[in-house]
This record gives sequence, C-alpha cells and structure tokens, in this order.
Amino acid sequence: MGLWNIIGLLMAVVADEIVQANNVQLNSCDLFKGSWVYSDSHPLYNASTCPFIGFNCLDNGRPDRDYLKYRWKPNGCDLPRFDGEAFLTRNRGKTIMFVGDSLSNNMWQSLTCVLHSAVPNSNYTITYSSKLSTFSFPEYAASIVFLQNGFLVDLAYEKIGKVLKLDSISTGDQWKGDTLIFNTYHWWTHTGRSKTWDYFQVGDKVVEEMDRMEAFKMALTTWSKWVDSNIDTSKTNVFFQGVSAVHLNGSEWGEPEAKNCKGQSQPVKGSKYPGPSHRGEDIVKSVVSSMEKVYLLDITLLTQLRKDGHPSIYAGKGSKFVDCSHWCLAGVPDSWNEILYALLMQN
Ligand SMILES: *[C@@H]1O[C@H](CO)[C@@H](O)[C@H](O)[C@H]1NC(C)=O
Ligand SMILES: *[C@@H]1O[C@H](CO)[C@@H](O)[C@H](O)[C@H]1NC(C)=O
Ligand SMILES: *[C@@H]1O[C@H](CO)[C@@H](O)[C@H](O)[C@H]1NC(C)=O
Repeated sequence: MGLWNIIGLLMAVVADEIVQANNVQLNSCDLFKGSWVYSDSHPLYNASTCPFIGFNCLDNGRPDRDYLKYRWKPNGCDLPRFDGEAFLTRNRGKTIMFVGDSLSNNMWQSLTCVLHSAVPNSNYTITYSSKLSTFSFPEYAASIVFLQNGFLVDLAYEKIGKVLKLDSISTGDQWKGDTLIFNTYHWWTHTGRSKTWDYFQVGDKVVEEMDRMEAFKMALTTWSKWVDSNIDTSKTNVFFQGVSAVHLNGSEWGEPEAKNCKGQSQPVKGSKYPGPSHRGEDIVKSVVSSMEKVYLLDITLLTQLRKDGHPSIYAGKGSKFVDCSHWCLAGVPDSWNEILYALLMQN
C-alpha cells in the first residue's frame, strides 16, 4: 500500500469520526439558530460549471463576491461538509421531489448543482415540462424533481374565474418520491397583477378577498391533513420548507425604509434579526408541529440574516426588476441543502 493510500485511509477514518461526532452533535443541536460565518470552503460549486443553473447572479453582472463566501453555522454544532457522492450513494434508486413555488425551484437548482459539481463525470439528464423538472443521474438511478405548485391546494378554472379552493387537494397523486420537500407561502401575499386567482372558496362559500394569512392557514391545514392521511411517513421523508425572508424595508435592519436588498453586500451580523418576525412564520410552525414525523426546514431566521443574498437587479441579463425574494446561486439555498443533507444522512 502506497503512502497516499495510507494517508487516504487515515483521512477516511478521520472523516468518518467527524461525521459520527456530527451525528451526536446534531441530535442535540438546533440547526436553525446560528449565524453566518466567513468560509474558505464556500461556495460549494462554481455556478459557471453548472450549465442548467438559473439565478446565476455573477453571470448576470453582479460585481461583489463576498456573498458567496458564507456558511451557516448553527450555534451548537457545525453542519457536516456536503459529500455529493455519499449523498447519491445513499439515495441510489430514489427520488427526491420538491413541490412548491419558485423558492422550491431555487432549492432544487441548488441541489442539482451541488450534486453535479460533486460528480462532474457522471452523466445526467434533465427534462422540463410545463410544471415538472426532472434531473437524473442514471449511474445512481437517482432523480431530483421539482413540481411547480404555488398553493398546494387547488386552483380551479371555473365559469366565474380562477378559484382558489382552500379545502381541496386533487393533485396530491403527483407528489411521489422517497423524500418530499413542500413549500408554499409567497403566492399567498401577491396583489395586483401578480395575483393569480380571482376568488377564494371554502365549502360552498365564495369570496373575492379575505385575510391572506387566514387563507394561508386554511390551505396549509388542508395540506397537513392530506399528508397525514395519504403519505406513509415511515417510508417517506417529508419536509416543509419554511418561510423564506424578503428584504424590502431597510428600517428592519437599521437603514432607511426606502432601502431594499439592492446594493447589500454583507449579511446581518450575529444570530438575531433586528426586524419584526416574518408574517406566516407562526402559522407554518403551528401547522407543521401538529403533524406526525414531518420535519420543518425552519429557514426563516437564516434567510432574514441574508439581506445580501438576493439577485436584486441581477436576476437576469439586463433586468431592471429588483428581486429581493429569490436567492443568487451559488448562495443561500445551498445552505438549505447542507441542512437537508445533515438530516437525510443522519438516519
Ligand atoms: C468559475 O470558473 C470560471 C471558469 O472556469 C472562472 O473564470 C471563474 O473565475 C470561476 N468563478 C469563481 C467564483 O470562482
Ligand atoms: C456517459 O455517457 C457516455 C456516452 O453515452 C458513456 O460512454 C459513458 O460511459 C457514460 N459515463 C458513465 C459514468 O456512465
Ligand atoms: C418598515 O419596517 C418598519 C420597522 O419594522 C415598520 O415600522 C414600517 O411600517 C415598515 N414599512 C413598510 C412600508 O412596511
């Protein structure tokens, strides 16, 4: 056995111990309380080597680069290093499906790029249909799928217009995977031209407007009941991706109210967000905690601290729109996947 083999073996043993130590740590560690620390080993990939990526802010002209160099550090432990090959081996023959809005898409894209950069020589296929994006590694028979669904409950096209049915789910038969990661929130807050429905309906009652958080709560409760009665959580890992923060009001972090995410190049320091708690967060926590074996990826605080992580005017080439709700890639959603990795590799 050559010297390098021996060193490799020793390193494998050390790495194994770190992972085991992490398992012990993770059990007693709140992964969602912590802070962003500068990291030489981030970003996890170079976005320009990920040909299918969106949200590539550098490519769209973003000039600053510090935002790439942070890792999420829970107060009581360290997240294990994302080992893409180990992840694919563990998920051999399996499907991981994200169901939700464009923030699910953000997380899906991040995961495909983290994995592709880990096994750059492994062939992949990617297919898009109107609502379904499927990324597969044939060598591992593993698929990472994104199914677009902004509300989880039904949006029906009827004579009177588009009706958002808060107590009805008819597309759940499409939610198929060994790991399912759901998300809905942002679409519930839309107004004006970005609003994608005309009426709310509960039972026979149809109304044009109602308290949006009340509507969100009803829908999420419908979803939770659907999951509890249709998904066998002893065979399927079910996660809910919590509310991802927006940065539209500078006075939340000590700047003028007119400031938003544009031009922000540093995270909020420390582990407390100075602004108010995020709308919707309490609803998500209370509904998900009432479910059996559904794990909340509670990303609200860690996203609140990243006023620097949004695309702002670099969402597309020559874009004028200031996007303060999605996230640049590489970037913040990679940390969501590092947390997902820690949880999935644990058991
Ligand atoms: C990514 O790779 C490209 C091409 O190999 C290189 O020009 C660029 O500097 C790299 N970007 C980062 C952020 O390292
Ligand atoms: C990738 O695809 C090429 C062409 O189809 C094939 O020759 C090669 O063996 C594949 N690589 C792997 C790792 O499966
Ligand atoms: C901005 O945030 C401050 C502090 O939380 C709040 O008082 C103010 O009403 C907010 N402004 C808007 C337009 O939401």
